This record gives sequence, C-alpha cells and structure tokens, in this order.
Amino acid sequence: MGRRGFLKSLPVLGAGTALLGGCASQEGAVTGVDRVLSISLGQAESHPSYGSLVSFGERLAEATDGRYGARVYANNSLGDQQETVQLVSDGAIDMAVISGTQIENSSPRFLPMNVPGVFDDIDHQNRVMLDQSIVGELFASLEPQMRLTVLGGYSQGGRHLYTAQGPIESVEDMAGLKIRVQESEIFLRLINDIGGVPTPMAYSEVYTGLQAGVLDGAENNEISYVTQRHYEVAGHFTLTNHLIGFDFLLASTDLLEEMDEQDSEALREAWAETQSEFVEIWKQETEKATQDMLDRGVVITQPEPEVFAPIIEEAGLSILEHPDDLALYDAIRAASEEGDA
Ligand code: GCU
Repeated sequence: MGRRGFLKSLPVLGAGTALLGGCASQEGAVTGVDRVLSISLGQAESHPSYGSLVSFGERLAEATDGRYGARVYANNSLGDQQETVQLVSDGAIDMAVISGTQIENSSPRFLPMNVPGVFDDIDHQNRVMLDQSIVGELFASLEPQMRLTVLGGYSQGGRHLYTAQGPIESVEDMAGLKIRVQESEIFLRLINDIGGVPTPMAYSEVYTGLQAGVLDGAENNEISYVTQRHYEVAGHFTLTNHLIGFDFLLASTDLLEEMDEQDSEALREAWAETQSEFVEIWKQETEKATQDMLDRGVVITQPEPEVFAPIIEEAGLSILEHPDDLALYDAIRAASEEGDA
C-alpha cells in the first residue's frame, strides 16, 4: 500500500494501534477516544510545539467527552511540510503545522505575514493572529479550492543566521556563503541581499547539509537550532533577528464540516487555549535554548544594527507589490500601534 493509502486508514484506527512504527503506549497520542486526529509536525519531540500539540489533544478529548483526540507525528514522519499540505488537503491526514513560507507557496496572500519588520515582537504577532478582523478572511481563503482551514498557529520567534565559520559581522563576511533557506521567495531575496548564496532545502535535511559542507550556514530561531542539534555542525550564531516567523496549524475543512457543530466548536476552543498558552512557553523555552547554546560553547554575536537591518527591511518591503498585500501589511502594522498606545 502506498503512503497515501496507508494514511487514509489512519483516522479510523485507535491511538493504541501500532502505526508507522508506533506502539500501544506511544507518546503523542490521547488513548481511549473514538476518533484520533493525526497531526503532522516537522519538529523533534524536544521542541515545545510537540508538547503543546499533545496537550491540545488532551483538551480536545476532554471537551468532546472522548469523541475526538489527537496523535502528533513528530520529525516530519508523515512527510515534509510541502507534502503534508497536500495530504491535509486530500483529507489523508487531519492537521499539519506548516511554516508561513510553505503556505505562501500555496497562496501568495499569506506573503505579508512572512515579511521582515511586519511584526514588532511575538506579542504583536499573537494579537494579530487572534484578530478575526485582520486574519478571518485570510484563514478561510484556502477552503474553497484546497479544503484547508487555518486554525491559527505558533510563533517561530525571531530568526537568526548561523554558520560553521564565523563570526559574521559584515556583508563581506557573507560573500559566497551557502545559506540554507526555506523554499520561499522572501528568503531567497533576503539572503541574497545580505551577501550570501541562498540554498533552498527541506528542514529535515539541514543537519546533514551542514555536516557534509554542502551548506555553510542556515537561519532559524534559537529553539530550532538547539532541538535540531545544529550547534554541532554550525557553532557561530549571529543575532540578525531578520524576521519573526509563524507556523500555521492547518486542518482539513472536510473534517471540520463532518464534525457536529458542538465538537468543531470545542476543537476551535481547545486550539485557542493552546495557542494562547504557547506564547509564554515560547518565551521561556527561548531563554532556556539561549542558555543551552552558551553552555555548549556556541559563539553568539550581535552585528552592529546598521550592517544588516536596513538591507533586511528593504528586502521585505520591496517584495510587497499587490494592493491586497499592502493592505494586509498596513492592517498588521496598525495593530502594533494600537498595542503600543
Ligand atoms: C522553524 C519552523 C518550522 C520550519 C523551520 C525551517 O523551525 O518552526 O516550521 O520548517 O523553521 O526553517 O524550515
């Protein structure tokens, strides 16, 4: 049976059934519920989004009196992000956590969310993501064609550059360095403009790419850097804070429509609680990851602000051309001013 055929059978099996190498007491699953929703995640179990999704499953089971629960498949075991977008769209898996840049590939309308400088910090980002007047229409926009509903998601925090050789203090230091990027136009432009050679690659391949010297560096947040053990193969971390990313939680629209109204409402509420709780968890885990990096001897440097910040800002703004993109960008920026007031 092909992967898709096999996955199709997933939702009707109980969480305790051995699946994809799993076992009866498999972590990441709520047991004893009628319907186990499959959730695909690219992160390792040590990443905070894994634990958060597990608690989402527990909340869901409680709120639906055991009619629904969830099982989290970590480490991209159901496929890389671009593949799992399609699997959720087909209804082969129920939900997936997908980086903003991957959604941007399905719908350019999400582009303004991935632009440097659009969010001041993760509190601003969270406020925007919960504001239906800004995101409501956008989050439902994939339903008619792709049967995907965006429920919200998790902050990726500020993203930074890291390299095997370093430190990186200038655009000249970046010359010729092959830096892994997500498959996204904005990242290609960004790395190119700060002097590097952008090299698109799936997240799961970055460690070996760095180890083999196919890559000179990559960019990500502190937590991903630590949980993917990239410090072992790229020990110079440069605080560029080039953008604050977001991981969207996608659900199958067919699934949500098949659920009775009370259960789908319970699912959305369980998710909203989980998402709100995550903001503080993220901040604490980022502090822990930074300490972990220092303990492991990672060299953390902060370039002078005038070196990269103006180039990064310009790269972001230059990519927004469509009036709808500019309108969304402005609405997000306005939410920052409200929050600051
Ligand atoms: C972060 C993000 C992931 C993304 C990854 C990447 O870890 O949370 O969703 O896939 O960056 O750089 O690919």
